[in-house]
Amino acid sequence: MEQDDTQLQFDDNGNLKHLLSLKGLSATLLSDILNEAEGYLTAPGDSPARKRSLAGRTVGNLFFEPSTRTRASFDLAGRRLGADVLNLDVNTSSRKKGESILDTIYTLEAMQVDVMVVRDASAGVPAYIARHVKDHVSVLNAGESDVSHPTQGLLDLLTIRQHNPDFKNMAVAIVGDIQHSRVAMSASEALHTMGIGELRLVSPPALAPDAGRFPGSIIVDNIADGLRDADVVMALRIQRERIGNLDGIPGIDEYFTNYGVSYENMRLAKPDAIVMHPGPMNRGIEIEGALADSSRSVITEQVRNGVAIRMAVLDRIGNIMSAR
Ligand code: CP
Repeated sequence: MEQDDTQLQFDDNGNLKHLLSLKGLSATLLSDILNEAEGYLTAPGDSPARKRSLAGRTVGNLFFEPSTRTRASFDLAGRRLGADVLNLDVNTSSRKKGESILDTIYTLEAMQVDVMVVRDASAGVPAYIARHVKDHVSVLNAGESDVSHPTQGLLDLLTIRQHNPDFKNMAVAIVGDIQHSRVAMSASEALHTMGIGELRLVSPPALAPDAGRFPGSIIVDNIADGLRDADVVMALRIQRERIGNLDGIPGIDEYFTNYGVSYENMRLAKPDAIVMHPGPMNRGIEIEGALADSSRSVITEQVRNGVAIRMAVLDRIGNIMSAR
């Protein structure tokens, strides 16, 4: 993201208008969003929290890449705040007939869509759209290439904070395909903003990131070194859709043996360390299936928190729209 894209996120009064990245968002703003999201959590089995702050507004979900969690939770979050929600079916949309992304956006704008939730395989698309929409429209990044997945970063931050709010004395290990991961990027931005004690990025050399993309993090190619005394372990999927050449990437069995997060290597982490995964999971490749289902796993908490985080972000955007 270019430097001025960070500024593009805020209106003239310094309010968050578009959510394109967690870069440039203060610790106070991140904490405020997390605090609001916690207020939307209700006990499993109870009715979900509802509010009318987006009543009369329309949220458009434009997912030009597949999604289950992010798309479903933006859909639910918008409806629970009283919005109309449009889920554009990209596979049957006129983009398949060659319509440009901007013509798609202008078409939806003419239908009075107020919030565009965008996922795209190309870097820069959410900011590009944000630069072209009318002033009253907000753009939320729902996953941008290997660059950014800000609401995922927020839900991961909330999930970690629920288990241990002491970020400064915490070691987090993110394990897997760091090089192609927008999840690792947004988690890293959020955790460093909160003053994380140590962030370790663990991957085979072929999937290691350029160090310059993750300032302040420790790059490790040995899972034992990565997991030792960690408080949080996050496993990541190999992002095959973003890997052109699979040379040097271990086969499935070798990968699980050396980089899979398992009961066995979790013994190196702290006894109360939590296990995370953004989903979708490949059991038996980047994570042992039984561990993902165990009491150490907070994966379903991450999903639950995802709806609350998206409600908090949409509510904030809706309040700014109402104040105009
Ligand atoms: N974590 C995540 O972005 O999942 P989806 O691809 O299912 O939205």
